[in-house]
Amino acid sequence: MDVIEIIQTKRDGRTLNKEQIDWFINNFSAGHIPDEQTAALAMSIYFNGMETDELTNWTKAMVSSGVTLDLNSVGKHTVDKHSTGGVGDKVSLILVPLIASYGLAVPQLSGRGLGHGGGTLDKMESISGWTASLSEKEMLTQLREIGGIIAAANENINPADRHLYALRDVTHTVDSIPLIASSIISKKIAEGTDALVLDVKTGSGAFMVELENARELAETMVELGENSGMKTVALITSMETVLGKTAGNALEVSESLEVLEGGGPEDLIEVTLALAQEMLELTNIDADPSEMLASGKPRELFEKMVSAQGGDLSKGLPEAEFKKTIEASETGYISKLDCRSVGIAAWRLGAGRAKKEDPVSPTAGVVCLAKPGDQIRTGEPVLELHGDNNDSFDSAIEALDGAIEISEVAPNNYPLILDKIFT
Ligand code: URA
Repeated sequence: MDVIEIIQTKRDGRTLNKEQIDWFINNFSAGHIPDEQTAALAMSIYFNGMETDELTNWTKAMVSSGVTLDLNSVGKHTVDKHSTGGVGDKVSLILVPLIASYGLAVPQLSGRGLGHGGGTLDKMESISGWTASLSEKEMLTQLREIGGIIAAANENINPADRHLYALRDVTHTVDSIPLIASSIISKKIAEGTDALVLDVKTGSGAFMVELENARELAETMVELGENSGMKTVALITSMETVLGKTAGNALEVSESLEVLEGGGPEDLIEVTLALAQEMLELTNIDADPSEMLASGKPRELFEKMVSAQGGDLSKGLPEAEFKKTIEASETGYISKLDCRSVGIAAWRLGAGRAKKEDPVSPTAGVVCLAKPGDQIRTGEPVLELHGDNNDSFDSAIEALDGAIEISEVAPNNYPLILDKIFT
């Protein structure tokens, strides 16, 4: 077998068999395939897609490139959630302790943000002392004793994905449905969870801007998860505007604490509870997660999760030194607050990174003082920009050009939960 034959098979729109896939992923993981040949294969997959069995074999081979966590010793049912990423998406910070409060184990291994979407680890790292690095033993102990972890995936989990993702990033082959689906599902299988709820985002702030593409990605991932022995359900949720009121690391932790303490914005609560309900159903628990949220137990559990990873919430969260507001240019109703533009503004203020190695600011970001549907008068603030220095504001303000629309009549509500995909 050789790599030329494998590239040719895919380039010509044919299906790779299991032997070809195993051979390729093994040799790729061992560093024996030059990057240009892997990039050619990724581009061929991008244009020609993958058949169901082919994608399942590809995903299993990716899992086998590294270790799989064995969560049996935790002694609890395991269930996780994965979001395809959005602006202001701080749901995991509320959902992990909420679900762990039922005695379930939630092994959330997350990534850092890249581009205009935020990363869960970046948000948690704005908490004084908190570390994302846990050894496998520490993960198992925390899952057993507390029930929830939010941590960085260990280097030994799915190394093939890490290397392939870096190549996809520089060859513009990230937005391929089979490549995204196999990347996400293989990481979740390697994490060892029995069940998974996917939050597939669609709208201007999401990877999949069009609903049809989001649905295809959701269907592909649900089928792939189920074919790999993991109970999988997906909700498709809207990213037409920011989720909640904040986009930025410490800002989002603070908003998550508000929800855990019984307050917070309705849209964030609605999406969190919808995902929680799906996680409970997958683990056969018949309960209303809004009651658990109101009980205060998830707030206590979050505190335990943070302390177990060295964090100290009593030190408070850092706040930006510089702030600027963007005001309404007319009186009326906010009819649009473009999600992607706010995400790019938060990113340019310092909340996100352009390259994997870049640092992020814990304090930079955007607070939405008004959201679609709200009434506003000329001159009233719509957005509050937070930055660490005055120089970052001009390019953030530029990103917001045309992002806010105001109409005379109240706009229709954005539906937040657009579809559910299951087998
Ligand atoms: N997130 C992932 O983990 N992988 C992808 O390919 C895209 C988004």
